[in-house]
Amino acid sequence: MTAVLTRRSKYILHEPAPCDAEFAYLLNGAAAAPDHGNLRPWRWILLRGTDREALGACLATEAPPEQQERIAQKALRAPLMAGLVFCPTPGHRIPEWEQMAAASSMAYGLMLLLHSRGYGSIWRTGRLCESRAAHDLLGLAPTEQLLGSLDIGTPDASETPARRRPGNVSDRVSTFASRPVPAAA
Ligand SMILES: Cc1cc2nc3c(=O)[nH]c(=O)nc-3n(C[C@H](O)[C@H](O)[C@H](O)COP(=O)(O)O)c2cc1C
Repeated sequence: MTAVLTRRSKYILHEPAPCDAEFAYLLNGAAAAPDHGNLRPWRWILLRGTDREALGACLATEAPPEQQERIAQKALRAPLMAGLVFCPTPGHRIPEWEQMAAASSMAYGLMLLLHSRGYGSIWRTGRLCESRAAHDLLGLAPTEQLLGSLDIGTPDASETPARRRPGNVSDRVSTFASRPVPAAA
C-alpha cells in the first residue's frame, strides 16, 4: 500500500538508473503480473547514453524544422529510457486487448518496483508510439507496437510530490442487486 500510494511520475531524473542486471531483476518481479495464456506479449529495449541521442535524432527527422531540436532533446530527459514493445500473438485465442492488458499490468508492476527501490519513472507516449522511423530504428517486427517508454532514473530532490488525486473512488463501485430472472416462455 505504501508503494502504491507514494509513487508519482517523476519528470526530473538523474543518474544513477538501474544497471541492466538490476533492471532484469526487477523485471522478473514485474513479469509475475497477471497474463492470460502466459504469453509474455511484451519486451523492453533499453537505451542509455548515445543510444538515446540516436533515437532523439531519429524522432526529430519526422518533426518540422523549428521543433527538431526540442524533439531530439526529449530523448535525453532520463539516464535510462526503456522502450516498451507490445508483441501480441496475432490470431491467438487470447484476444489482443487481453494481451495489451497483460503488458500494461507488467509495466505498472515495474514502476512500483522501481519506486520501492528508490528510482523514479514516468511512462511517456507521444511521438514515439506513432513514429515509423523509430519503429524501424529499434528493429520492431511488423506485428509489434511501441507502447511508449519509461524514463527511469533517480528522482530530483527538488521535485516535491504533487498532491495525489482525491482518494475516494467509492462512486466507481456499485453493488449489483439481482432480480429474479423471468421464466422462459
Ligand atoms: C499509457 C500512459 C501514457 C502516458 N503518457 C504520458 C506522456 O506522454 N507524457 C506525460 O507527461 N505523462 C504521461 N503519462 C503519465 C501520466 O500523465 C501520469 O501517470 C498521470 O498524470 C498521473 O500521475 P502519477 O503517475 O504521478 O500518479 C502516461 C501514463 C500512462 C499510463
